[in-house]
Amino acid sequence: MNNRDIQAAWKYHDGTKHSYWSIRNRPNFLDWANRPLSFKIYPTIEPLPLPRDLPQTGVAALSAISEPVSSVGGESVPNLQDLARILHFSAGITKRRASQGGEVYFRAAACTGALYEIELYVVTGDLKGLDAGIYHFNPADLSLRLLREGDLRGNLARATALQPAVAHAPATILCTGTYWRNAWKYQARTYRHFGWDNGTLLANLLSVSAASRLPAEIVLGFVDAEVNRLLDLDTRREVSLCLVPHGRTSASSLPASIEVPALGLETIPLSERQVEYPAMLEMHDASSLESEEEVLHWRRKQPIPSASAPAGEAVRLQRLPKEEQPKDTIEQVILRRGSSRTFDQTESTKLSQLSTILDCSTPGLLADFLDSPGAQLNDVYLIVHAVQGLKPGAYFFRRERNTLELLKEGDFRAQAYHLGLEQRLSADACADIFFLADLNCILERYGNRGYRAVQLEAGTIGGKMYLTAYAQRLGATGLTFFDDDVTNFFSPHAEGKSAIFLVAIGKPLKRMQR
Ligand SMILES: Cc1cc2nc3c(=O)[nH]c(=O)nc-3n(C[C@H](O)[C@H](O)[C@H](O)COP(=O)(O)O)c2cc1C
Repeated sequence: MNNRDIQAAWKYHDGTKHSYWSIRNRPNFLDWANRPLSFKIYPTIEPLPLPRDLPQTGVAALSAISEPVSSVGGESVPNLQDLARILHFSAGITKRRASQGGEVYFRAAACTGALYEIELYVVTGDLKGLDAGIYHFNPADLSLRLLREGDLRGNLARATALQPAVAHAPATILCTGTYWRNAWKYQARTYRHFGWDNGTLLANLLSVSAASRLPAEIVLGFVDAEVNRLLDLDTRREVSLCLVPHGRTSASSLPASIEVPALGLETIPLSERQVEYPAMLEMHDASSLESEEEVLHWRRKQPIPSASAPAGEAVRLQRLPKEEQPKDTIEQVILRRGSSRTFDQTESTKLSQLSTILDCSTPGLLADFLDSPGAQLNDVYLIVHAVQGLKPGAYFFRRERNTLELLKEGDFRAQAYHLGLEQRLSADACADIFFLADLNCILERYGNRGYRAVQLEAGTIGGKMYLTAYAQRLGATGLTFFDDDVTNFFSPHAEGKSAIFLVAIGKPLKRMQR
């Protein structure tokens, strides 16, 4: 398989579209008796408990979400408390609730179906409170488990063709996706969810890293087989998705890369039976990078031109003035976040609140797939239902001018209900925020791996929108959608673009109790 053979990404994307007919012709019945475990458990490895009473960062959520820490400058090395804070507020358990299939352990970041298919690992040198090694994070008992002893950062850096942030990081967090844990419900569409759910988790992780005064960025360029081998993954079941180097050390020499043996560590089976979806294995293979040369070449891709013609009447966005911004810390906001289950259609939000959501979430991510500060692969479109100071209608968000351009005016609650897979949430929201991308252009430039990048970027920005909404005591939820109907709704402006992601923002019907 070859990253440049972009028919693979199109085949996967087109083959996993939702339409009015696809969900009626292919109904999916859940086998509750075969529901997968939501944790990866290594029964033979002793846990290293992480500290639980962590000092609060005291950093306001909106700053943490929108102001990353620069990697230029002095040394910054996380300690065990920093790592514990970052892991817990990204993937830790924040609440429990009884449900049809038993107790559900809800986590810090939103995840499709509450199935939590993203696992976290840490590759670290010696830190204060933690010896060098490769560790798996288990949120169930808030602990690390040592998979490999010793400093293997040289192997990781080599797998990224010496990407500067990874090569200088005292510790790097790795995110993987476990197919079956999500595919049990969503079948082959899970590969899209890898990007979405990894993204919402990254929104938390990057914000908490920033609040901990640690530089962190997203790295998607790596030799897949090298990283998977380092983590000893069974790649028919679980695959590496991205790396997030943390901190910066001035040490000039990296440990040499060494041979790593297979570990064959025992893990508890997720279910009695697992179903494999070949479309996802093919998509992953076709977007894998096979050598350091290929990684280097991939990183030197050409910038994406931004080319949307101006649309109609433009409204300037105005973020809440500093003195009116909420002061809640990032930790407080993450603890009270939870996807809204019902919105109150009679309520509206202020333009300044929507502006704050868009402004804080879209300054551009620090990621190796973006070539310039502020670059973004996804375009943002909105259906506005109830925002004070905005006519109800469909809009395009022109980021570089910080304006919303009116595409068509009208009450589109009925259309929004349909587009959001016939769910009331998208009709009752104050605004639905859609991500659409020019996949032709992105795949041309990045190969199939561009598909991973565009999904991950949308999930991360969407995750930031969740947090900025909750910081302002609004509600939010991710939603799935009828792919082509979304493009058609925003066309002709969106002609040729593909629907990638959807977040609805509104006022929750019940008062938030958290
Ligand atoms: C990408 C994404 C898509 C989602 N799609 C839907 C959806 O279509 N319908 C829905 O009711 N909830 C949806 N959710 C919300 C999840 O069900 C929710 O995040 C999960 O149950 C965990 O609960 P929590 O967010 O309250 O912690 C989605 C969440 C994400 C992150």
